[in-house]
Amino acid sequence: MKSLVMAPLRGLTDAVFRNAYQKHFSGVDEAVAPFVTSLKGRRIKPSHLRDLSPDRNRNLPVVPQILSNDADEFIRLANTLMDMGYSEVNWNLGCPYPMVAKKMRGSGLLPHADIIDRLLDNILNGFHGQLSIKTRLGRFCTDEMDRLVPVFNRYPLVRLIVHPRTGVQMYTGTVNLDAFAMCLAQIDHPVVYNGDIREPEAFVKLAARFPGVDQWMLGRGLIADPFLPEKIRTGSLEIHRRRERFAGFHDDLLAGYLAIFSGPGHVLDRMKGLWGYFADDFEDSDRLLKRIRKARNLDRYRQLVDRALMPS
Ligand SMILES: Cc1cc2nc3c(=O)[nH]c(=O)nc-3n(C[C@H](O)[C@H](O)[C@H](O)COP(=O)(O)O)c2cc1C
Repeated sequence: MKSLVMAPLRGLTDAVFRNAYQKHFSGVDEAVAPFVTSLKGRRIKPSHLRDLSPDRNRNLPVVPQILSNDADEFIRLANTLMDMGYSEVNWNLGCPYPMVAKKMRGSGLLPHADIIDRLLDNILNGFHGQLSIKTRLGRFCTDEMDRLVPVFNRYPLVRLIVHPRTGVQMYTGTVNLDAFAMCLAQIDHPVVYNGDIREPEAFVKLAARFPGVDQWMLGRGLIADPFLPEKIRTGSLEIHRRRERFAGFHDDLLAGYLAIFSGPGHVLDRMKGLWGYFADDFEDSDRLLKRIRKARNLDRYRQLVDRALMPS
């Protein structure tokens, strides 16, 4: 069977989420963690890497991800992660947010294959762990891949995760599967497909079109339907004890955030963010989401969620 990888979603798929997920659902083989940034000249504080501390990440294999455009800082952070026990580090070349991209980080580096080339050369001189990359097909247009692929091929990457949109597309429009196919044909490394797999049928179609792809990354689809990997693996849409299992997951998330966040406001914000995805699976989802977003305190939140999770 192909391997399924949980996508990094900053502010969503942190260690609390990954642990609760792994306790209540199955089908995911590993996760790439949301990015940590390299810190110019500053000491790396344990709090910066708290989400990646080994004692919080015993349940699911995790690959940490770094957002950086500075080889020395990348090496320093990547080597710290190696010392913590990680063997692979992923470099984020996909982040589309203008605040990031304009500073030539994430997808902002993609129009500059020469700079990526130099960075890879320097990084791999000082970092001796396994390096993988998560990329989009370009920042402005997919033609950028013509210059990027030969660069990627020159270095011993363990895998290349490709989200087939451009950076400026953000999350709009559709994934460009023809451009992905062209890129796939030219890349010498194992390629991980990532993008818009929201239901098993989408996976089945993509897997049929790209039989050579062995690793598949699931993001928003997995949060909106945490049973998605299980459905993909079993080929069945039937889920036994669906609501109870989801309720157990939800309660572990809530307890996990109450334990690590300072103050109920932060917990509430995080849970509201997750419900932006969860609500889709519930009856009258728009109204439910509106009410949850309006909840001013945890008691009101709990009341709304308990009602929504009641077995019908
Ligand atoms: C809220 C949010 C946060 C994200 N954070 C990260 C991140 O930290 N690192 C990363 O490589 N991609 C990040 N992504 C992109 C996802 O990993 C993934 O590439 C994208 O959502 C497409 O896959 P999907 O359609 O399966 O969700 C983020 C996406 C969203 C919506």
